[in-house]
Amino acid sequence: MRFALFADIHGNLEAFQAVLGALREERIDSYICLGDIVGYGANPGECIELVKDLDCVTIAGNHDWAAVDRTSMDYFNPYAREAVLWTRNQLRQENQDFLKGLELIHRFDCFTIVHATLKAPEKWKYIFSISDALQSFQLLSNPILFVGHSHVPVVFEENGGYRYYFSQEVDLEEGRKYIINIGSVGQPRDRDPRATFCLYDTESHQVKIRRVEYNVEEAMRKIVEANLPPVLAWRLKDGE
Ligand SMILES: [Fe+2]
Repeated sequence: MRFALFADIHGNLEAFQAVLGALREERIDSYICLGDIVGYGANPGECIELVKDLDCVTIAGNHDWAAVDRTSMDYFNPYAREAVLWTRNQLRQENQDFLKGLELIHRFDCFTIVHATLKAPEKWKYIFSISDALQSFQLLSNPILFVGHSHVPVVFEENGGYRYYFSQEVDLEEGRKYIINIGSVGQPRDRDPRATFCLYDTESHQVKIRRVEYNVEEAMRKIVEANLPPVLAWRLKDGE
């Protein structure tokens, strides 16, 4: 099986379309969405429609649930909060219901997906370090956990000890466990502005992080035109 996984689209239609275009060149059996379809970008409804068209397993991100008032915005910074409130007003009922109905965790036979962490996923904690990763490793019942949320692709590995590394390709080894952050489609924060997505091939036991260029200027223009905080446009240019 070849899975295409993507996360943190954040209403960036240009980035998402570029990712879907790149995926059309691949032989993909199944698409998987790790949440935060909306928030920050100017096309939340269009991005939800595209996800729905893929008919893929989709889990909730904090912005998805915040947009439909299913989680608290207390810890959101002012720009994120403003964007969530703007997003809420853009979404038709059907799309609000779609976000409301998203689950937090989904377990497949050979991997698990969650937006944030396995321990209390509704608290939206980040996995930045090995100590952050430990509880999720303990709760992981199969070899791989794919996560999003930080917008920075990174691999945590349990191999008797623990290590983490930044790599575009991971050759999965039997007997090891992995937590893999698949980066962000619509708001990368690793100083590479290109949209990010992930391929997982269960036959070759390989995970690949892929980047694709998109029309950043157009996504920025729409954010400014929508009167969203301009900083949300500027950060796309530098990928931070
Ligand atoms: Fe996000």
